[in-house]
Amino acid sequence: MRHLLLLLSVLPQTVPARQIAHRIIAGTTVELQAAPWQASIVIQNAPLCCGAVIQENFVLTSGWCVHRVATSQLKVRVGSSSRSTGGSLINVCGVHIHPHYNLFRYDNDLALLQLCENVTVVENKVQVIPLATETPSDSAEAIVSGWGYTSSSSWSILWRRVHSILTLLRLYWIDWLTTGSQQLQQAQVKILNEQQCARDVSIFGQFQPIQGISGRTLCTTGGTAGACYFDQGAPLVVNGSLVGILGKGGCAGKPDVYANLAEHRSWLQENTK
Ligand SMILES: *[C@@H]1O[C@H](CO)[C@@H](O)[C@H](O)[C@H]1NC(C)=O
Ligand SMILES: *[C@@H]1O[C@H](CO)[C@@H](O)[C@H](O)[C@H]1NC(C)=O
Repeated sequence: MRHLLLLLSVLPQTVPARQIAHRIIAGTTVELQAAPWQASIVIQNAPLCCGAVIQENFVLTSGWCVHRVATSQLKVRVGSSSRSTGGSLINVCGVHIHPHYNLFRYDNDLALLQLCENVTVVENKVQVIPLATETPSDSAEAIVSGWGYTSSSSWSILWRRVHSILTLLRLYWIDWLTTGSQQLQQAQVKILNEQQCARDVSIFGQFQPIQGISGRTLCTTGGTAGACYFDQGAPLVVNGSLVGILGKGGCAGKPDVYANLAEHRSWLQENTK
């Protein structure tokens, strides 16, 4: 059943023509000073996900990225705008996946990575981002940054889905096929109303292989811009505070779904002591 659902979610979605030319899809290449809290999550030497430095000794990412991955296979790169070179590569000593994380739900898609050594804070290169205390309002302007896919043609999206699932099955040897962005990309998006999001994320009308759009999630829409595969864990920032961590990118055809950090404050506080 699990695999059937995964395969169903691989079927291509129609991407409206006006969105095809655009690309992080429709983002711009940025230097690290635009997002010095950005971290690249390296799994078995492959930079497969994004994260955010929320404390000198903790990086926050999505549960999807690290579930069923041995702690010894995880590293975090900070201080570089390239996903696979530069900055410093730090070992991970502890992984705390949200206790209610579930592969078939959008909510609670969070994991805290405890670093073996603290990051060295360097202005404009490595910085800690404060967590939002309140859920941003609908239509608030937000910024997402990541190293994920940058093209949104239907076929490349189909391939990326297959690829993303192979990654989910932890078949890392396929990493040589990745064509994610080497340089950090950023896109301007808007917070999407929760009910609208619940309607827009469904794949075949009422049929939804993944459930759980709620107050514990945040959705964004960027018109022709948005997050895509391998942006998972990407930080969403409103007015200088971290409001969300990407669970699922919609590749500019569907809303992007994030964990709503304001609703996870107590879990975050408890686990970053
Ligand atoms: C590492 O960072 C944490 C959180 O900021 C701090 O409490 C701790 O003292 C730091 N440890 C060292 C060795 O600097
Ligand atoms: C943005 O943050 C600043 C301080 O960091 C605050 O004064 C201001 O009210 C915030 N604006 C919004 C719209 O939340």
